[in-house]
Amino acid sequence: MIEQARQWLQEATSIVALTGAGISAESGVPTFRGDGGLWRNFKPEELATPEAFARDPKLVWEWYDWRRGLIAEAKPNPGHTALAKLERSGREMTLVTQNVDGLHDRAGSYRILKLHGDIWRFRCTTCGSEWPDRRTPLPKLPPKCQCGGIARPGVVWFGEPLPPGLFAEAQHAVESAGVLLVVGTSAAVYPAASLIPVAKRAGCKVIEVNTEDTPMSEIADCSLRGQSGEILPQLVDGR
Ligand code: APR
Repeated sequence: MIEQARQWLQEATSIVALTGAGISAESGVPTFRGDGGLWRNFKPEELATPEAFARDPKLVWEWYDWRRGLIAEAKPNPGHTALAKLERSGREMTLVTQNVDGLHDRAGSYRILKLHGDIWRFRCTTCGSEWPDRRTPLPKLPPKCQCGGIARPGVVWFGEPLPPGLFAEAQHAVESAGVLLVVGTSAAVYPAASLIPVAKRAGCKVIEVNTEDTPMSEIADCSLRGQSGEILPQLVDGR
């Protein structure tokens, strides 16, 4: 199956990769729903919704500050590096990620659509301005904007729309791709997961890489079981 998937990748002139928390697991960043996943220990409705933030911004920031500290210690793994290498292979490549950790950027990927935002960016809840902030730990919680407004993490919370135009761009990339690589996602969160059947309907070869079965394994043309840090280097440069 790996040989078949490699061939499809080599023949494709346009490639999209859709990634989830699983690609960062080998870097020590917890996933959400797997063993030891964040949602096993924390309630998303208490930490990752606009209502939770309105109720207790300090509590939400304490959690994001902890996650930022974890991610700051992490390094991109061979899975991230393989996708960055694929982007440099000269074919058209779009990386659509649900991850907010910034490890794809640090691995050298450039054309990245961040569907769920970026944990290293802040947005003011009063004036709406956005800015990068990589300090860990943050000196004061909740952090404030220059206007005095409370800042929120630059991520998309449950119940919030994705950044305008970004999802349409991802859909467009998938509809014109030869191959969609689906890596390390439980395909449980929408609209991100809907990109997979969209790709299928557009005649795209869907290659899934995951340590477990997902609801999309059945529609994938090839579903490879194992760690993405091991499988992606094999797919991209046969080692
Ligand atoms: N290699 C490949 N796949 C892996 C690995 C690994 N090393 N480790 C775990 N996985 C798989 C798991 O089997 C699971 O299917 O990665 C998937 C991780 O799933 P989730 O934890 O649900 O993460 P994700 O799909 O990215 O969640 C989507 O949900 O909580 C929200 O906004 C958050 O972006 C996130 C979204």
